[in-house]
Amino acid sequence: MKKLAAGNWKMNGSMAALAEAQALVAAHPAPSCEMLLCPPATLIAALSAQAKGTPLMVGGQDCHPKASGAHTGDISAVMLKDAGATHVILGHSERRTDHGETDALVKAKAEAAIAAGLIAIVCIGETEAERDAGRTLAVIGTQLDGSVPAGATAANLVIAYEPVWAIGTGRTPTLAEIAEVHAFLRARLQGLIGPDAAGTRLLYGGSVKPSNATDIFAVPHVDGALVGGASLKAADFGAIVAALSA
Ligand code: 13P
Repeated sequence: MKKLAAGNWKMNGSMAALAEAQALVAAHPAPSCEMLLCPPATLIAALSAQAKGTPLMVGGQDCHPKASGAHTGDISAVMLKDAGATHVILGHSERRTDHGETDALVKAKAEAAIAAGLIAIVCIGETEAERDAGRTLAVIGTQLDGSVPAGATAANLVIAYEPVWAIGTGRTPTLAEIAEVHAFLRARLQGLIGPDAAGTRLLYGGSVKPSNATDIFAVPHVDGALVGGASLKAADFGAIVAALSA
């Protein structure tokens, strides 16, 4: 399995930010891990064109479950693919919170993504209150069961474990806590998709930065990272790519 360094630019970046992606590729022309940036939808076509012929892949941050239709403001998986995307992040906690996305909706979106030929990066994670109540595994188990799409394989599904309280806060779980969750996810996924679970990338996300990446990547069943803030700067994301390639 190739590990995956994925950057989520969230609602950040204008055309000028493409220079950061250019610098990233210049510094890491042949990484031994996979390298993905998910910019805002406005930049997907331009970044895809720029990244053509390089190892950098481009993804979306959301898609609609339908392929087309009267859904003002939405973007379909087919359109992301057409714009050059290979992946799409689905069910990020910010979308679950800001837009009330449920597991069932995330699953429908992931099925649309797979049908369009995209790799679905399905995000799950507990809130701080849920962790404090000792409910972490119960919460993420339920999210996983409800969000994993039909027809998922190691080739079309990636799972990202992102504790809500670790996103953008500079706080991370302990390495033992990450290990506990990732081992749990591997086993639970086996029950959902069978033997392909062994080769499905399980990413950790939440305040990953150059200074903690090496330690996090050494945790069993961590197959890469989904990086927010630190993916906006080529030097920081490049250091994370290097840590994953080591
Ligand atoms: P940060 O890396 O900024 O904590 O964000 C993580 C995240 O939400 C990636 O999807």
